[in-house]
Amino acid sequence: MSWNVNTLIEQMRLPFRIAGGPRENAHPIGDTAMGSRNYHLHELCIANSPGDSRRIMPPILESHRRILDVGCGAGQTLIASNLASSVMAVGVDIDCSALSIGKQMNSRIHLVGARGEALPFQKEYFDFVFSRVALPYMNLHKTLGEMWRVLTVGGRIWIVLHPFSLVLKEMHESISRLEIKSAIYRSYVIANGITLNLLGKEFAFPFKKEHYECFQTVRGIRRILKRVGFDSVEIAKNNFFVATAIKNAPTMPSDP
Ligand SMILES: C[S@@+](CC[C@H](N)C(=O)[O-])C[C@H]1O[C@@H](n2cnc3c(N)ncnc32)[C@H](O)[C@@H]1O
Repeated sequence: MSWNVNTLIEQMRLPFRIAGGPRENAHPIGDTAMGSRNYHLHELCIANSPGDSRRIMPPILESHRRILDVGCGAGQTLIASNLASSVMAVGVDIDCSALSIGKQMNSRIHLVGARGEALPFQKEYFDFVFSRVALPYMNLHKTLGEMWRVLTVGGRIWIVLHPFSLVLKEMHESISRLEIKSAIYRSYVIANGITLNLLGKEFAFPFKKEHYECFQTVRGIRRILKRVGFDSVEIAKNNFFVATAIKNAPTMPSDP
């Protein structure tokens, strides 16, 4: 079955609040396949609209030959990047339904079911690795460590993150709507963000093993990127919270 993306986008109901932000129910207390599908198709629509203020795309250069998107959803960012056919483009995600939507829209991009924390690729394979608003849902240390491992020496990462203000807004919404489960979950996100950014420690959501979510701070993410082994860390926090960094050495700081 091949899908007409424009028809799907026209027909769908949009259940989420901001582009480039967390999708509705992107937490363990009520995710739905329909919410996921709508989110990814809507993000594809935005990615295909250069004038849209909600659009943020990775800076892919002509020199990039092997590109990885971690937490790619349906591969919307890679699809909208219109890459040359010679470029090896790979996306990984844990959401199999999102990956199958992407596979039906584009057969050239390799979409792989895998966790960001355990990337199924050999070391130093990709020359550009990015993650667009997906790292906040992962174990940051493990995933950034994996991104570092699969990156070539001299390669760059580009990541879009969640500021504290976003989580605070979501908490406020949960409380004002008297959504108790959601407020409990947001409390976890805030607590995990505080321990991560202040102490460098992160912990999974107590009622769902292996599920993480947190916000990031400029100082916190800079420290984690350095600890994992990245150099030349640059951070921009305007409409979007974006960090870039380079892998300059073939060994991690902790390696012998
Ligand atoms: C907010 S969506 C972002 C999707 C896409 N990158 C974009 O910019 O539209 C977050 C994505 O991260 C994925 N995700 C969450 N935890 C993950 C994990 N541990 N490993 C891989 N993907 C994960 C989700 O399934 C979801 O597709």
